[in-house]
Amino acid sequence: MERRQVVRYAFYTLDPAWRRLPADRQAAAKLEFGETIEHFAGKLLLRPYGLVGIRGDCDCLLWQVAEHLEALVDLQIALNHTDLGAYLSLPYSYLAMTRRSIYEFPEDPHAPSRLVIRPSEARYLFVYPFVKTRSWYALPKAERQRMMDEHVRIGRKYPSIRLNTTYSYGLDDQEFVVAFEGDNPAEFLDLVMELRESEASGYTLRDTPTFTCVQMSLWDMLDALGGAGAAEPVARRPARADGFTPVATLAELPPGKSARVYAAGEAVALFNVNGTIYAIANRCTHARGSLSEGTVDAAACVVTCPWHDAKFSLETGQAVGGPATIPVPVYRVKLEGDTVLITPPPAVAREPTGAPRS
Ligand code: FES
Repeated sequence: MERRQVVRYAFYTLDPAWRRLPADRQAAAKLEFGETIEHFAGKLLLRPYGLVGIRGDCDCLLWQVAEHLEALVDLQIALNHTDLGAYLSLPYSYLAMTRRSIYEFPEDPHAPSRLVIRPSEARYLFVYPFVKTRSWYALPKAERQRMMDEHVRIGRKYPSIRLNTTYSYGLDDQEFVVAFEGDNPAEFLDLVMELRESEASGYTLRDTPTFTCVQMSLWDMLDALGGAGAAEPVARRPARADGFTPVATLAELPPGKSARVYAAGEAVALFNVNGTIYAIANRCTHARGSLSEGTVDAAACVVTCPWHDAKFSLETGQAVGGPATIPVPVYRVKLEGDTVLITPPPAVAREPTGAPRS
């Protein structure tokens, strides 16, 4: 028997009553919930996604991949015992397993890896359960292969969309769970529209509900639920003796990229500008826009807030344009090998702190 992985797509909804709890309890609950998940890091692969603002009936997804079913069970039991878990319901949960396709796709370079789920860094995940009609299974295998070839041909026209097909026969209500990764929802829409015209589509019995999910860090996902910020509980973790906190690797932050991380209780925006790493407080001083999502002018070393176009120097934190007048704190940055470390500033404005990429 080939070695397979078990996969679970667990969609959670938060009881709004949780948002009316005292802030200190919310903060403690997020810390407990997040650390419970982190505790399982070596036992399963887990990717958090947010659905706040996208669907009305669920708030987040935990995409879980494990070698054994028991790991998925143990994680859910642990989450059920947390304070936040008492306020979470599970309107959708899909269980599936990796396996080789029964069809031949000799030109598909990804075919050999289908037994192992390797999520990409794509911004979005599009998930839905899938059931074929019984008449599909009554067709000769060669007929089905011919239709699957057309299906694959259409998929190859959208190379930036990556498909993870997992199997649920006998394990759960659907036959497959399909999860597409991509950075552009418009491309995914076009792909699905085109697949509707394929011959195999006539043999689809059910392919809803469909979930559009946004990839985010565990703490961002918890923040998206509302209540006290997750950054604060994360800050309670012991810091290194030198005050620096490892927050990213250079592999995660290539030139031209930015990221939001947490250190000392604050959300911090990291930028790699032509190989130099800069770190400033993530919140715009005008109205708390997220600067890690801003536009960077590499020549001027300035980030523009995505909300109302305030501009901040990445070197000094000074507001240099737009509606903001108060500078943002600048963090000291250092590199240890491939690891980016930052430490909070003692005051608001300071000297340039960019660290050259080693
Ligand atoms: S929130 Fe940044 S410019 Fe308004």
